[in-house]
Amino acid sequence: MSRFNAAITGIAAYVPEATLTNADLEKMVDTNDEWITSRTGIKKRHILKEKGKATSDMAAEAVKELLRKTNTHADEVELVICATVTPDMSFPDTANTISYKVGMKNAYGFDLSAACSGFLFALTTGAKFIESGTHKKVIVIGADMMSSIVDYTDRTTCVIFGDAAGAVLLEPDTDGHGVIDSVLKADGVGGKYLNRKGGGSKNPISQYVIDNKMQYLYQDGRPVFKAAVNGMTTAVKEVMDRNDLSPEDINWVVPHQANMRIINAVADFMDFPRERVMKNIEKYGNTTAATLPLCLRDYEDQLKKGDNLILTAFGGGFTWGATLLKWGY
Ligand code: ACO
Repeated sequence: MSRFNAAITGIAAYVPEATLTNADLEKMVDTNDEWITSRTGIKKRHILKEKGKATSDMAAEAVKELLRKTNTHADEVELVICATVTPDMSFPDTANTISYKVGMKNAYGFDLSAACSGFLFALTTGAKFIESGTHKKVIVIGADMMSSIVDYTDRTTCVIFGDAAGAVLLEPDTDGHGVIDSVLKADGVGGKYLNRKGGGSKNPISQYVIDNKMQYLYQDGRPVFKAAVNGMTTAVKEVMDRNDLSPEDINWVVPHQANMRIINAVADFMDFPRERVMKNIEKYGNTTAATLPLCLRDYEDQLKKGDNLILTAFGGGFTWGATLLKWGY
């Protein structure tokens, strides 16, 4: 057993100012507020519109706020992990760019790609550096500028996604707070249902890629929906079973904000009262790697030291999982 747990000792998030409401979308594609609300639970999303701005700019704002809130000097940070599927560029990594923009001169970093499960995978990865005793301050970021890969003529996907960034500080804890256990899974069978085909080494950007709209995110919603409910419930059950926990032992469930119907299905299937399930999809839509830290930020005032939280996510890959976390402050 490790001497240290990795506790979250601070949380911050950033959402761009501009919004895209259901009424705005009604003017862009053949859709309506009733369809979007009943199928997804989303009313509006925030979109990064300033020219030249990218994922790292949102993440840098979240990290600056995190350092301020936790009274941490930029030079103290040793490692930055950025979960994203919308990096500023394929290289250098966005984590590096964020460190540069914030002035974290002593930090090295890297990006982690696991789509909507990105923050969960990055949190577990960051925790290992703390648990090993080699690192004292690790920042884990979930950030995505989904508007850069969404086709705003495709009504099946453009109503779902928004832009945001969230960040947490991980520090050693010897009193049992922090990341306790994680179940993380992946299955490449899901690759065909949720992907972005263009822009990588398989289909480098070309006229063919653009003519076939391969630079945009593609999703076949129904199989993803079914796999998401199944993946999140089985991962939550596995992490609870192996830690001898029942629903009454869990103070908060923090689900990836993909769709309100998925969130409610997971809560009901696991017998969690819906009022103990964090939800903010109505305001932001699906912000991919940012949904979990954004939820934690929005509910921060309601969290108490020692609360048991289960974080769960599902995303492209397929990737999915659940993490048991004891809140540290
Ligand atoms: N407005 C009006 N009608 C629409 C819209 C829209 N915006 N979008 C689709 N429709 C129509 C379809 O054309 C279809 O019409 P038809 O029956 O005449 O063919 C009908 O509505 C039903 O379409 P479905 O795609 O079957 O709708 P569904 O109920 O499955 O909802 C949704 C779609 C919201 C995408 C849902 O499937 C979903 O949430 N899936 C999971 C998303 C998810 O969890 N993703 C994982 C994370 S994302 C990541 O990792 C990057």
